[in-house]
Formats: sequence, structure tokens, C-alpha cells
Amino acid sequence: MTTVLAIDQGTSGTKAIVVDARGEVLGLVELPVRPTYLPGGGVEQNPRELLDSVRGAGRAAVARAGVRIDAVTLANQGETVLAWDPATGEPLSAAIVWQDRRSESICAELEEFKDRIAATTGLILDPYFSAPKMAWLRRNVTGEGVVTTSDSWIIHHLTGEFVTDVATAGRSLVTRLDDGDWDPELLELFGLGTERLPRIVSCDEVVGHTSAFGGNVPVGGLVVDQQAALLAENCLNPGEAKCTFGTGAFLLANTGTSTARSTAGLAASVAWRVRGETSYCFDGQVYTAASAVRWIQDLGFIRGAADLDVVAAADAEGVLCVPALAGLAAPWWRPDAKASFSGLTLSTGSGHLVLAVLQGIAAQVAELGDLVAADLGQPLTRLRVDGGLTRSRVLMQAVADLMRIRIDVYPSQHATPMGAVALARASLDPSLSLADAVDPWEPSTTYEPRWSADQAADFRSRWAEAVGATLAREG
Ligand code: G3P
Repeated sequence: MTTVLAIDQGTSGTKAIVVDARGEVLGLVELPVRPTYLPGGGVEQNPRELLDSVRGAGRAAVARAGVRIDAVTLANQGETVLAWDPATGEPLSAAIVWQDRRSESICAELEEFKDRIAATTGLILDPYFSAPKMAWLRRNVTGEGVVTTSDSWIIHHLTGEFVTDVATAGRSLVTRLDDGDWDPELLELFGLGTERLPRIVSCDEVVGHTSAFGGNVPVGGLVVDQQAALLAENCLNPGEAKCTFGTGAFLLANTGTSTARSTAGLAASVAWRVRGETSYCFDGQVYTAASAVRWIQDLGFIRGAADLDVVAAADAEGVLCVPALAGLAAPWWRPDAKASFSGLTLSTGSGHLVLAVLQGIAAQVAELGDLVAADLGQPLTRLRVDGGLTRSRVLMQAVADLMRIRIDVYPSQHATPMGAVALARASLDPSLSLADAVDPWEPSTTYEPRWSADQAADFRSRWAEAVGATLAREG
């Protein structure tokens, strides 16, 4: 019987849940972590705040559960990096968040190598991934200590080990998709050739022990957050796909156990490595989902995400939004893209703008669905979804309408930590199959498309024109 403390250290908060062997959540605590947005596309977090939130949420969740835990696991943001001193554990820089665009210049310098980078890593040369940000930190902030993704720093504080998991390492642009290891030539290309790098571990490995949450328990089942949600949503077979609507929205599709590169502009990544076997996925990104909602909240259009469906108009009356507040990812890969509204008139009200933002997010997800279908050679027939924004019926209906497929909502807000729980179980019990480690689930809500094929096609072609106009403005 295994009780796991799973910590999901995300962009907007840290969630800790204590889950028993039957999948019951015995304790849940969430602490917010608010990024700082800087002019020029900078997005930073305070590393101390991240670590304090991990310790604080973890301890409080265990206290709330009132049980002894058998293991601790961590899901992390994936591409958020910092410099830190391995001797003292002290941070030497701010945490540079995955949304940060400041390493655009480093990517521009390496443009001539982009095909080689894509062939080796499966990824696209873009400031989203971790290596450009690591290089930016080295050039602009400090040459001291080590520079790693946030998981390595947190795990070091919990266990004293210096590790990262194979799925997180695979978000860097300096690992090989085929064997998941660091690639010396790519490290050299990014100016990271002499770095001390964490050991890459499998997702079912016990990496050390921690007494940070009471007792002295194994830490294992490490994974990047999007892949954790893919696992929790039972996307274990090729072609099964999910989209998590968090700070950003991320659509991932399992592609099986042999490597495949996207020809449609998606990233190809490690999903997880368990029992020595690596599974892969295609992944597409909407950089601002809840971030865009927070932005319209800050502007005063809504009081909070719970208001979205109340305020959103029934029809946007021709108003379109490209919510590219932190650039555009697949298939455009334009970190310089800016958000836009079009079709405004004197009768446009906040309800039209709110609906246009939700439809803009849904339209991006629909584009990603098409890319996945093109790569897989078959249309998606169903999309599993999770994350805070799935509470918006308007958004979920728009996704169903524009993708023209069934949308199944994961029944809890904890898909990401539940994926990490499954991996922690697998790390503690080598006889457990991955499929058995994942808890079964039924959708809490299902959305079927209501728009006709013509309506969806018309909206999508108008929205694609709006994207074209936005990109043309940035040159
Ligand atoms: O790649 C970044 C992403 O995984 C962050 O997830 O949940 O903080 O939006 P979230």
C-alpha cells in the first residue's frame, strides 16, 4: 500500500497532494507563485519562493492528510531555469520562466544550425526551451555555479542529489531524442560545453531520500508536468492525446516507443522512460491560456476566471483575438509575435473581447490538433482535457466546435500530480506495469461539437487571416 506526496511545481502555483493506494486524495494544499513580467518579454520567478512553496505546500498537505507518506514525487515546469551554487544550494539568479523571450537573440545567432538541432533533439530552436535561457543566464548574469532547470535545484534541496529526469532534460535543445542523453556538440553550440550537468534519470527511478515532509522517504517518479498529465489521462497508446489548460495550454499526443520527428512543426519529445523503455510524444504549445485570462482580469474585464462564462458574450460579433501575449509556438514559432484584437466597433463590449480571447485560445488548440493529425496520418477522434480553464464551459465548447471532435474533461484538477503519483508507484514497485500504476477515470463532462463544419471552417480561416496580419506587422 503506497501513499504518495506528489508536488506539482507549476508556473502560477505549487500544488501538493497526498494520494493513497486507491487514488483517493487525502490532503491537498496549493500555494500561489506569481511571476514577474518585465518589459522586453522577461518572465521571472523568485527561486526561494518556488522552494518555499514546495516545502510549505508539501508539509501542509501531509499534515492535512494526517498519514505517513511512503514516497515523494515532483512534476516540474520543464523549461524554467536558474543558476545556483551546488555547494550551498543558494540561487545565483532569478528563475527564468519558460515564457521568457529574452533568449530570442541567442536563437537568432544559431539560426543556421536549426535543422541540425531539430534533427538531433526533435525540438524547434525557440526561446521556450531551456538551453537558450541557460546560455542567456551565462552571458548576462553569472558564470558561477551550475545552471539547470528548476527541478534539479528543488530535488537537490530535498535529497542532496544532482539529477533531472529524461523527459525534462528532453526539453532543453541539448539532448538527443534517440537516446535521451546530453549531446556534447549541441552543448558546445549553446556555449554550455563546460557546464556541470545533472545526471539524467528514468521516470521510474528512486533518486534519493528526503526528510523534508516527515520521516525519511524515497523520492522518485520525476517527470515534466505536461507529460505527467498525458500519463494520468491514460494516453498510453499512439494517437491518444490530451490538452492541459494551465498558464499555457499544451496539447500532447503519444507517438509510441519509437522516435518520430514532426513534419508539421510540432516538437517531438520524450514522454517518459519506464522499465528501460522510452515512450515519445508530439507536443504543441499555446504560450498564454490562463496567462491571457489573468491579463484580461488585470485590465478589469473580469474579476476572476470564474467570471469568464458569465461575462463572455454569446457571439463575438466579428471580434477576433490572437492571444499571442508571449509569442506564438507551433506551427508559427514566432517568439516576436504580439497579441491582437481585430473587428472592433463602437458597439464592442467587454463580453465580446472576453469571448474573442477564449475563442483565440481554442483556435490555437484546434491548429495544434490539425498538426498532430497531419503527423499521425489520421484525425484525432477525441481530446482529453484537464487544467483550471476546463471549468469554462464556453472555452471547452469552443474547443469542441473548432476541432469538431469530442472533448472529455478529466474529473479532477490534479491530472499533473496524478501522473507523477503513477510514476512514483512504478518507482517503488518494479513489478507494477505502467498501465496498472495509472488510476482509471471517467470524464466528468463531455462536449460535442455544435457548430457545423462550415461555421468552424469559416471561423478558422478568418482567425488564420488575423494571425497572418499579426505576424506581418512584426515583419
Ligand atoms: O512548458 C511549460 C508548461 O509545462 C508549464 O505548465 O501548468 O505551468 O502552464 P503550466
